[in-house]
Amino acid sequence: MPDAYILGIESSCDETAAAVVRSGEQVISNVVASQIATHQPYGGVVPELASREHLRAIVPVVRQALAEAGHTYNSVDAIAVTRGPGLAGSLLVGISYAKALAFALDKPLIAVNHLEGHIHAVLLHLSQNRERQQANHELAFPVLALVVSGGHTHLYLAEQKGRGWIYENIGHTRDDAAGEAFDKVAKLLGLGYPGGPAIDRLAPRGDPRAVKFPSAQIKHRDRRGRKDGRAVEPDANLDERPRFDFSYSGIKTAILRYVETHNMRASIEARRQALAKISKPGLEDYLAHCDKPTLDLAASFQRAMVEDLLEKTLAAAHAYDAATLFVTGGVAANNELRRTFEQEGAKEGLPVFFPSRPLSTDNAAMIAAAAYPKFLAKDFAPMDFSAEAGMALK
Ligand code: KG4
Ligand code: ZN
Repeated sequence: MPDAYILGIESSCDETAAAVVRSGEQVISNVVASQIATHQPYGGVVPELASREHLRAIVPVVRQALAEAGHTYNSVDAIAVTRGPGLAGSLLVGISYAKALAFALDKPLIAVNHLEGHIHAVLLHLSQNRERQQANHELAFPVLALVVSGGHTHLYLAEQKGRGWIYENIGHTRDDAAGEAFDKVAKLLGLGYPGGPAIDRLAPRGDPRAVKFPSAQIKHRDRRGRKDGRAVEPDANLDERPRFDFSYSGIKTAILRYVETHNMRASIEARRQALAKISKPGLEDYLAHCDKPTLDLAASFQRAMVEDLLEKTLAAAHAYDAATLFVTGGVAANNELRRTFEQEGAKEGLPVFFPSRPLSTDNAAMIAAAAYPKFLAKDFAPMDFSAEAGMALK
């Protein structure tokens, strides 16, 4: 089989990204234009601004990805693009451009699920490292994949089918995604946006046992009736397979209450204003404006999040006899999370794999990689396919 070079395009949220990947396993180029500066003043992603920024960035980003790979529009073998889930207006920018390229160049077009992309980011990492040989021969199924990002906290059980994988959703968040909780807590503490990286860096300076949070107990099956993370008719399709759902509204409320009862408002506002004046605050800037109660709260919050994710994921791994664990998505860049999952996975004899850190957050290399089995199977998208904001992974 000759090598296939796939151009991947990703625009589901606040990153415009393009990449060229060889045969699903070698990243030749990987360009990511972040919109952080645009959304920073609002403390979160503003969908209308995101679409506008994607429109501005998509052409130069794709051009740069091709140039860095030493490719041209004509020399790639296929064009892959994120179909969903994500922000509808943002997805449409990538999809429309991918369609136009595929049509004009007469190349196959491949539609990719963003969540499958995150899972393939782990495979990309394995295939680029020394673990490669081992992983190719020994990747044992079923794989349990925790996709933990700003938009998702999903548990999938994956099996191999033909050249590709099939997925069963066995857990999801009932409210905020884990990354969203990091972002909201950081905003509440005046630490800016996005919050995950800031809390990650500050947490080692605080005491993770200083503040106790009640663990999220989810007693009932999801009454809204959800399957694959999407709403369905109430009580329809709810089989009896065990589920491992997450919830972060409790911990957010607990932090809000802690801030109020400990009179932290004034110091938070002072920090917010001081950090807003610094364009890219570094660790020293954060530390200069953080008191001990804030550091302790950040450390305790991160510890509670990591423990909750770990506990539910390991329980799911036991219940479904998972042979391998993948942890991926933006929050998988978190240092304490990586360390804890690796340690606890090793204790249980469960191999745990992550993407490289740059491929943990949104990127297009993961989209081009996930497209490769579809390229081999000639599973091409029709020209009239559209964005699917709530797309399920199956
Ligand atoms: O995967 P991603 O880039 O976009 C989505 O698909 O959502 O994830 C972004 C999320 C944000 O919520 C961000 O705060 C979080 O990932 N994040 C982190 C870290 N780096 C990014 N959370 C915790 N620790 C980190 N180091
Ligand atoms: Zn993502």
